[in-house]
Amino acid sequence: MSLTETPSSTSRSAETSVPITPLLDERWSPRSFDPTAVLTDQQLDALLEAARWSPSANNFQPRRFVVGRRGTETFEAIHSALVGFNAAWAGNASALVVAIAETSTVEGDLRPTAAYDLGAAIAHLTVQAHAEGLHTHQMAGVEWEKIVAAFGLTDNLSPLTVTAVGTVAPATELAEALAEREVAPRSRLPLSELVLVRD
Ligand SMILES: Cc1cc2nc3c(=O)[nH]c(=O)nc-3n(C[C@H](O)[C@H](O)[C@H](O)COP(=O)(O)O)c2cc1C
Repeated sequence: MSLTETPSSTSRSAETSVPITPLLDERWSPRSFDPTAVLTDQQLDALLEAARWSPSANNFQPRRFVVGRRGTETFEAIHSALVGFNAAWAGNASALVVAIAETSTVEGDLRPTAAYDLGAAIAHLTVQAHAEGLHTHQMAGVEWEKIVAAFGLTDNLSPLTVTAVGTVAPATELAEALAEREVAPRSRLPLSELVLVRD
């Protein structure tokens, strides 16, 4: 998107310093989701399959997921664990996905890169979602003890994020304060700040 273009509420491509694959520069995290949109079995399968095929240390795959589609008890349990700010908008998502790091096996073998591996899996899921014409919004603002209790997670299973998945809706569907954030300029640190050494 050029600087002179007015951002529409549902398309907010990144202003990248060099071209990158559209699947990545067109991804963004809306809070306005269509409350009537349904995630099909096929779409859900594709999202989870994309997560499944992400890389992990030693191919240990220390990530687990709890998935609830809107209208189910699982969705309600996840939604009721979100902090108020997130609960206010995420109820319109088509699905909520709890991302869980398996920090050790039941035998006690540690999985020190579990959080990293889980993040890679969710990154895959978000890109697949975009390829399916969907949007995602990750959240850490969650009362985790509620998630642990609702799904009986054992000590070695650490929930780290909830990802809302759905069909983006116009920002005007949101309350004013949220709508403003929805169309605020997107920004990132410059590469010069991120890359410590580049030869
Ligand atoms: C681990 C993680 C936790 C986040 N937690 C929240 C959250 O609790 N509530 C929220 O509205 N957004 C949350 N976000 C969304 C970020 O604010 C958002 O990704 C960031 O501002 C960049 O915007 P973009 O995804 O549209 O590029 C979270 C994102 C990540 C990756």
